[in-house]
Amino acid sequence: MAGQVVLLRADLNAPLDGSRITDDGRIRASLPTIGTLAGRGARVVICAHLGRPKGGGFAERAAGGPSLRPVAARLGELLGRPVAFAGDVAGASAAATAAGLADGEVALLENVRFEPAETSKDDAERAGLAARLAGLARLYVGDGFGAMHRKHASVYDVPRQLPHAAGELVLAEISVLRQLTTDPPRPYVVVLGGAKPSDKLAVIGQLLERADRLLIGGGMAYTFLAAQGHRVGSSLLESDQIPQVSAVLADAARAGVEVVLPSDHVVASRLAADAEPEIVPGADIPDGKLGLDIGPATRQEFARKLADAKTVFWNGPPGVFEFPAFAAGTRAVAEAISQVAGLTVVGGGDSAAAVRRLGFPESDFTHISTGGGASLEYLEGRELPGLTALEDAS
Ligand code: 3PG
Repeated sequence: MAGQVVLLRADLNAPLDGSRITDDGRIRASLPTIGTLAGRGARVVICAHLGRPKGGGFAERAAGGPSLRPVAARLGELLGRPVAFAGDVAGASAAATAAGLADGEVALLENVRFEPAETSKDDAERAGLAARLAGLARLYVGDGFGAMHRKHASVYDVPRQLPHAAGELVLAEISVLRQLTTDPPRPYVVVLGGAKPSDKLAVIGQLLERADRLLIGGGMAYTFLAAQGHRVGSSLLESDQIPQVSAVLADAARAGVEVVLPSDHVVASRLAADAEPEIVPGADIPDGKLGLDIGPATRQEFARKLADAKTVFWNGPPGVFEFPAFAAGTRAVAEAISQVAGLTVVGGGDSAAAVRRLGFPESDFTHISTGGGASLEYLEGRELPGLTALEDAS
C-alpha cells in the first residue's frame, strides 16, 4: 500500500452554520481509517459529500453551495497535519492534488455531489464518473457508512472498478448493528423520534419481530396519537399516514410489543427558540398549540421503561433539542439510556448530534452510529448498495 494512491469514500457530511462546523462527530469517526492508511504510507485521497446540492454542478458552489473546504480544514486540525484540498471532484485539480501527495499524506476532494452523475439513476452516467474517480487511485476503501444506503457513483460504482476493502468505521458499525438483528439480549427497548412516521414505518415493522417495547416521541408521535383519536392541535401531523400507523399499532398489539406514546407534552404557539414553553398534562393538545417536546410524566415513563433494558436502539430526538426550552425530553432519554448496563446504540445524525450537543460523553453509550438512514435501512433488513459493492470480490 505504501506509495499507492488510495481513494477513501468517507461520510464527512457535517452540519454547518455558514462555514462553521457545528458537529464534527462524523469527521472524528473517520479518523481511524485515515490514520491507518496514512500510517501504512498510502497517499490518501478522500471523496465525500456535503448536504444535498440540487444538480446545478459547480455553478452551485459559486452561488454559495456546500463546499467541503471547511471540512478539509477541520480534518487537518484533527489529524494534526495539513490536508490538501482539490477544487473539483475528478478533474484537473483532483488529478494534480493526488499526484502531489507524498506517502502518508492526505487530500480531500470537493463535494462529490457537485457532479450531477454522482446521484444519477442512469447506470452509465454514474459509471462514467466512477471511472474518472477510479482513475485517480489504485485501491478503494469504503468507509462512508452514513451514505452506504445510497446507490451513488462514489459509493456503489467505484468499488466495482477498483480493488476494494471496507474501512474500520464500516466494520465497527456493521458489527454493532448485527448484534441488534441477531438475538439481542432482552428486554430490547427501541426509542424512536424525529419528524415523520412515514420515514420509520418500515423499520418499525421489522422491529416488531424483535423488540419488547417501542417508546415513540418527537414529531412522529403526534400522528400516532391522532391515530388513537387524540387531539394534536397544530402539531406536526402526517394525516395520510394514519391508516398505516393504525395498522402498525394493531400489529404491535398482536406481536405483544408494548408501544409507549407521550402522555403529556411541552407545547408552544410557534416553532421558535424564544417561544414560551407550556406543559400540557394529558395526551391531548389544545387547538393552536404545537407539541415540541415530551412532558415530565412521559420523561419519567420513558426512563422507567428503559431502566431494565439489556439492549437499546435510539433513533430520532423526542423533542426540538436544538432549542433549550424544548430539550428536556431528549436530555432525559439520553440520560436514561446512558444508565443502561447493556448494549446501547444511538443511531442517526440527529440523535448522535443531540447526545454530543447536550454534553454526554460518547463513552456513556456502547456505540454512536454515524448513519441515520443507513442504520435504519440495515435494521429493516434492506440491502445497502455500498456494502453489497464492497462484499463483491474484485
Ligand atoms: C446522512 O446525512 O444521513 C448521510 O450523510 C447521507 O446523506 P443523504 O441523506 O443526503 O444521502
